[in-house]
Amino acid sequence: MKKGKFIVVEGGDGAGKSSQLKRLKEELGEAVVITREPGGSQYAEEIRNLILKSPHAKQADAKTLFALFWAARADHLKNTVLPALERGITIISDRFDSSTFAYQIYGQEAKELEKFFWTIRDFYLGEIRPDLYIYLDVDIETGLRRKAGQGEDENNHFDAKKLDFHKRMREGFMQFLTRVPHVIIDANQSVESVRKNLKKALSLSL
Ligand code: TYD
Repeated sequence: MKKGKFIVVEGGDGAGKSSQLKRLKEELGEAVVITREPGGSQYAEEIRNLILKSPHAKQADAKTLFALFWAARADHLKNTVLPALERGITIISDRFDSSTFAYQIYGQEAKELEKFFWTIRDFYLGEIRPDLYIYLDVDIETGLRRKAGQGEDENNHFDAKKLDFHKRMREGFMQFLTRVPHVIIDANQSVESVRKNLKKALSLSL
């Protein structure tokens, strides 16, 4: 039986997701488990390496990745998420199924997988549904500039293909969020304000 809370934190590139989660872990310590996708369990971390590090990764299309992300997720759920929830511990995942929806189906334009996504989601998640999705929402160009380590005033023009991918991805996240309990946090603000809002969202659901 599920007792702990299951929370997902998502965000576009440069939203500050990883550093916010790192600070949260420092503050909350053993009170929460912070995990990530792809990965989060031993076997899923191996699938993560395959996805992100294989020299042949460029050959993989959205359909292949879709299957790999779900396979990794199945193991992550069984070996990390469920055991934490059963012990009554809150688990926060850095990315989850929302990323598959946004990246593979919208970003990589595999719309033919959209209907299937919800079926496979029911199958793999079963009773374990995240209690809340928190989306750190950053303007695409601001996020990309942050990620590239550039100042706000530097006038870099990101190539149109990259911008389009990120626009599609954000649209995917927004579509996904309409179907699940969620909070959207403006991540264009300072790190401190984002932190405050994140903690507020968490305290409401913990
Ligand atoms: P990671 O280094 O964890 O990046 P980030 O800091 O952006 O979270 O890399 C994970 C990458 O995998 C990231 O680009 C998003 C992508 N991804 C998908 O495409 N689909 C998925 O289902 C998940 C979980 C991640």
